[in-house]
Amino acid sequence: MQSLLTMLKSWVRAVLDLPYLLADVLFLARDKRRVLRTRNILRVPHLPQRRGGKRAYGEWCHVTGIFQTLLHAHLPRPTDNCILDAGCGTGLLALAAEPWLGDHGRYVGLDVSERDLAFCRRHFREPHFEFVHLPIYNQQYAAGQARDRVRWPVADAAFDMVTALSVWTHLNEDDAVFYFKEIDRVLRPGGAALITFFVLDDAYQQSLPLRTDRVARYHTTDKRWWVFDKPCSQSGAWLCPTWAACPEVAVGVTPPGLALLTAGTALRVERIYPGNWKEQPGVYFQDVVLLRKR
Ligand SMILES: C[S@@+](CC[C@H](N)C(=O)[O-])C[C@H]1O[C@@H](n2cnc3c(N)ncnc32)[C@H](O)[C@@H]1O
Repeated sequence: MQSLLTMLKSWVRAVLDLPYLLADVLFLARDKRRVLRTRNILRVPHLPQRRGGKRAYGEWCHVTGIFQTLLHAHLPRPTDNCILDAGCGTGLLALAAEPWLGDHGRYVGLDVSERDLAFCRRHFREPHFEFVHLPIYNQQYAAGQARDRVRWPVADAAFDMVTALSVWTHLNEDDAVFYFKEIDRVLRPGGAALITFFVLDDAYQQSLPLRTDRVARYHTTDKRWWVFDKPCSQSGAWLCPTWAACPEVAVGVTPPGLALLTAGTALRVERIYPGNWKEQPGVYFQDVVLLRKR
């Protein structure tokens, strides 16, 4: 009964989305002719390919700009940079990275979703873009793939920057720790990583009454309020919202969890750009953690 209801709801949602789908096609066709100063957003895809929790056209452009700026601030040089994007999805960060690649740099996108990578390969055809499939398990995104963890198929110390936008917020503790070691391996000494998280720190604790109040006031368990109240790892440092069926739906990490991630690596947290999900002004929605390899 429950699954029938869920199916019905998603059908209704799809039908209600049809006018938006059509408007998106018509609007983008006209709008892109008026873009004069921001070349890379000409490649923002249509609605069906705008995923990763950011569906509105305006939001894709906005987030692209944020990460283009963060990359500029933390890359070692103005051009010819090598950037690895873990969990690239349909390529939002490929757009943000593009201005910094030049003739001798490269962007490599990794993902567990063959479908998203197939789109990226069609959409980003220049030789400095490469997209690589990871045939590994993620309960939310690739439940049918093998449970083995694999080393990323790239050389040691080959990248100036590793990015992951809304990816460590979908990894269980064991995967999160394993793939953090991969970040450490593939970065050059002095290289940096920009990884987004829900960091469950003091600011989060202080924001809790506000969000739990809202949940009570509106009699809703609406996901937008992001209350991470269910421990979901051996260490207790990773927590999910109660509504999440598994950590891979949405997971937050405590500061001791962040320390577990960097333990035994040459990575150090250099700065945290707090996210606006904690009811405070933020650079982005999730917290952006800047790490540096010594
Ligand atoms: C919320 S989406 C974000 C996509 C993209 N970064 C963006 O912001 O548009 C999470 C992405 O992580 C990918 N993913 C999940 N587990 C992964 C893993 N272990 N390694 C690489 N990618 C993974 C998913 O397939 C999905 O594309």
